[in-house]
Amino acid sequence: MVMKRKIREVKAKIVHHSRLGEKYFNLRLLSPEIARVAQPGQFVMLRVAEARDPYLRRPFSLARIWPPDQKEKNKKDPGLIEIWYQVRGRGTHLMSRLSVGEKVDLLGPLGRGFWLAENLKKAILVGGGIGLAPLIAWAEKLQQDKKERRLSAENPEVLVLVGGKSRAEILGWRELKRMRLEPQIITEDGSWGKTGLVTDLLERELMTGRNEGTVIYACGPWGMLAKVAQIADQFDIPCQVLLESRMACGLGACLGCAVKVRVEHAGKELLKKSAPNEERASEESLFDQEAGWAVNTPVPFRYARVCQEGPVFLAATVIWE
Ligand SMILES: Cc1cc2nc3c(=O)[nH]c(=O)nc-3n(C[C@H](O)[C@H](O)[C@H](O)COP(=O)(O)OP(=O)(O)OC[C@H]3O[C@@H](n4cnc5c(N)ncnc54)[C@H](O)[C@@H]3O)c2cc1C
Ligand code: FES
Repeated sequence: MVMKRKIREVKAKIVHHSRLGEKYFNLRLLSPEIARVAQPGQFVMLRVAEARDPYLRRPFSLARIWPPDQKEKNKKDPGLIEIWYQVRGRGTHLMSRLSVGEKVDLLGPLGRGFWLAENLKKAILVGGGIGLAPLIAWAEKLQQDKKERRLSAENPEVLVLVGGKSRAEILGWRELKRMRLEPQIITEDGSWGKTGLVTDLLERELMTGRNEGTVIYACGPWGMLAKVAQIADQFDIPCQVLLESRMACGLGACLGCAVKVRVEHAGKELLKKSAPNEERASEESLFDQEAGWAVNTPVPFRYARVCQEGPVFLAATVIWE
């Protein structure tokens, strides 16, 4: 059954805005409407300035999701979401100057988030730099589900691998520890944890050979994700990746966010099997003719809109070029 998406456009009040380490910011927003329905891996489009300059909203993953407390209708859990972000250009620079009490225009939740695989025994979460943000929400959900015993017979083990160029790019460890998770940390310059790449940690972990029921969930720079996908393929392990791409509308209308995916992985059966419980794009949009098919090439591909079919994809479906 195709579920309808519940996308909201809201004015969300900023309740907290602070630096997150040396390099990033943490923006907490009051938005019961979005917090109530959002899933880890989904994103919001945020308008950074009332004056509509810059005009386009910017996409951000949800790092924390605290749904409103339905039972008590109290003010303790009013429905909050948190965005962790890095200043990259004009939009995020203006965003970093927003103050507590101001309201921002939000559209969301958007896209398809992470999904639980059948017979999941071990979830390996692999985050590079700010890419850790959506994995925090996913780790929290996995741990929460364990607590509530909503996962089948055996609870899966959750392992989080965190990487960055230097200490300044490592985030989330405090939150992970609060979730009773012990992240493995690695930096390229060795300023925190082991020295190397987060993909080195992943390879080492998989080489132990106890990989039955393992699923990898990854987010980070494109090059890192391509390497994660290659490792997952080498060890024959399912892998979900959260992709970033430039977005104008976030709603499937502009095609600006399209990435190439393999046609042989685009079969309805596989897509249904891979994401059974998620709110998903309609089947029409999954097989949208206007998105184009290219079958006379060595690897048959089509374009998939990251904002609709993603941002989370099976790594094996993506053409990593
Ligand atoms: C689904 C999704 C989730 C995202 N989640 C987060 C998040 O949780 N935290 C976070 O900090 N950022 C996230 N991003 C990236 C974020 O949207 C961009 O950093 C932001 O739009 C940049 O806006 P700007 O106006 O500051 O920069 P611009 O002036 O638009 O661009 C400045 C520089 O950033 C690069 N850039 C812009 N947009 C992107 C993008 N989407 N991906 C990669 N590089 C980009 C440009 O190439 C340019 O070099 C996400 C993107 C997507 C698509
Ligand atoms: S951002 Fe417009 S189609 Fe995806």
